Amino acid sequence: MTRIAVLASFNMDLVMRAARRPQAGETLQGEFAMFLGGKGFNQAVAARRLGADVAVVGRVGDDAFGARFLAALDAEGIDREAVAVDPDAGTGVAAVVVEPDGTNTIIQAPRANRALTAADAERFWKQTGHADAALLNLETSMPAAIAFARAARDAGARVVLNPAPVGDVPDDLLVLADLLVPNALEAQALTGVTVGTPLDALEAMVVLPRGPEALVVTLGAAGAVAVAADLRLHAPPPAVDVVDTVGAGDAFCAALAVRLGEGAGIEDAVRFANAAGALATTVAGAEPSMPRRPAVEALLSAPAAQTG
Ligand code: RIB
Repeated sequence: MTRIAVLASFNMDLVMRAARRPQAGETLQGEFAMFLGGKGFNQAVAARRLGADVAVVGRVGDDAFGARFLAALDAEGIDREAVAVDPDAGTGVAAVVVEPDGTNTIIQAPRANRALTAADAERFWKQTGHADAALLNLETSMPAAIAFARAARDAGARVVLNPAPVGDVPDDLLVLADLLVPNALEAQALTGVTVGTPLDALEAMVVLPRGPEALVVTLGAAGAVAVAADLRLHAPPPAVDVVDTVGAGDAFCAALAVRLGEGAGIEDAVRFANAAGALATTVAGAEPSMPRRPAVEALLSAPAAQTG
């Protein structure tokens, strides 16, 4: 079975569905819902539901939210031996606004996620030994992210970096990524290039400190573009009815890592990831929307998915 290691962030998503985002000084009313989320948690759940053996490292608070995450990891069958309960900081929280077209904006308060240390990440890899792919995002601490990626490479895992939230990403981390998977905003922040086509992605790739093996940029409703040594790809997504885009990028990253871990090429993995990301938009909330393998395969074999 493909083994995936995930640097997990845990956020309780407090979601407001509203007619639009409020302007400065404005109060709007909306519908409220709460979901388990966090980029790393979502990615771990998706990787598991897509058929991988998954182990995570991370931190939750010693509170009711943290307990819900630990129970959910157990229910999914994810190895959480390296998830610590922080005595001082509460579990991460994200304030999410979802608009009628399903698009979202998010503010994350890292809280316990930020207390994750480089030593935690190193200890995790000593225990884990090997993984086919290592998935990381930037919702925990930068020292933990760098240590996780470095130890993953030493362990022979393919490092898939989802540079979100993008902030100031040091070259020390970027050089460790085998695959870099930003969305268009993140790609622009990292490279200064507005990516909409494979040619743009090539231009962005040149700006990166060490060319990763592949740059894969997710484009929401336009799918994804990917560039690698022998690949220039624009893969439109399969058509679905969008409810809520929260977690779609996480499903995409997890699916990409799982397919690559299974030995697929980058083009195959991007098409698989596109289908997983599209499916995640059809269900409200992050954790509930992480797709299962049979649904992804069914969507991929539907006639409309064959185009592009
Ligand atoms: O990518 C979606 C996730 O980002 C949400 O679940 C939220 O927690 C934010 O971190």
